[in-house]
Amino acid sequence: MKGVILAGGKGTRLRPFTKIINKHLLPVGPFPMIYWSIKKLKEAEIKDILILTNKEHLSNFISIFGNGKGLGVNLTYKVQDGPNGIADGVAYAKSFVRDEKFITILGDNIFEDSLVPYIESFKQQKSGGRVLLKEVPNPSRYGIAILNKETNTIQSIIEKPEKTNSPYCVTGVYMYNVQVFDFINAIKPSARGELEITDVNNLFINQNQLQYDILKGWWIDAGTHESLYKANTLVYELIKISKRKGEERE
Ligand code: TTP
Repeated sequence: MKGVILAGGKGTRLRPFTKIINKHLLPVGPFPMIYWSIKKLKEAEIKDILILTNKEHLSNFISIFGNGKGLGVNLTYKVQDGPNGIADGVAYAKSFVRDEKFITILGDNIFEDSLVPYIESFKQQKSGGRVLLKEVPNPSRYGIAILNKETNTIQSIIEKPEKTNSPYCVTGVYMYNVQVFDFINAIKPSARGELEITDVNNLFINQNQLQYDILKGWWIDAGTHESLYKANTLVYELIKISKRKGEERE
C-alpha cells in the first residue's frame, strides 16, 4: 500500500505564521507537524509516500525532507493547483497509486494510536473505503458518522449537525480503493467552492462500502492556534512517556 499526505490548503486559521510558512511545517514537538504523519505511515511499513502541497511551499518541504532517505521513506512531491478541497487533493494521487489501495492522511492531524491495526483491517477489506472515527464531546463542530454497528459500515455522514445522537467524528484518515477517483470525478464543488471529501465518502456509503474503526487514543487537528498549542503539549507528553519507558527497560 502507498501513502498520501495532504499538506496544501490555505491555513487561514494559523495566520500570521501561514503567511510565510506552510502550516504543516510549523513545529509540533521537536519536528515539523507533517513528520508525525510520515512516522505513522512508516510504522505501518508504508514507505512510498506522496506529499501534496502548494507551489510556493514545495521548496521548503524539499529542503527539510528531501527524498525522505533520512527518515527511511521514499518521498514524492506534487503541487496542488489551488486549495480546491480535500477530495481535489486526493485526485492528485491517481498516477502515484496506480491500481493499488492507498491511505490518505491530512497533514495537520495528529494521532496517539498506532494506525497499524486499522491499516491491516483495510488490507483485509475486499472493496470500498475505510475511515477512522473519534468520539467527540461537541459533534456540532465536525462531520459526524451515523453507524450501523452490525455491519461495521457507516450509514451516513452529516456535516456539523445541530442535533445528533452520534458522537463519532470522521478524522483525517481515509483509506480507499481506486474507485475513489471515479467518485471524485462525479462530485461537484460545494457552496464554498471545494470538492468535499464528505461527498466522496457519501458515494461509498450509497453502495454500503464505507467501513470504520474507532480510535482509542487522542486525536487532534492542529489547524488553529489553540489546537496547535494543545498538539505540542500532547506530543511532548508522549515523548516523555516513551523516554520513561526506555529508561525503565535499560
Ligand atoms: P483545512 O484545515 O480544512 O483547511 P486549511 O488547511 O486551508 O486551513 P484553514 O481552514 O485554517 O484555512 O484542511 C484540512 C487539511 O487538508 C489540511 O492538512 C490541509 C489539507 N488540504 C489540502 O491539502 N488541500 C486543500 O485544498 C484543502 C482545502 C486542505
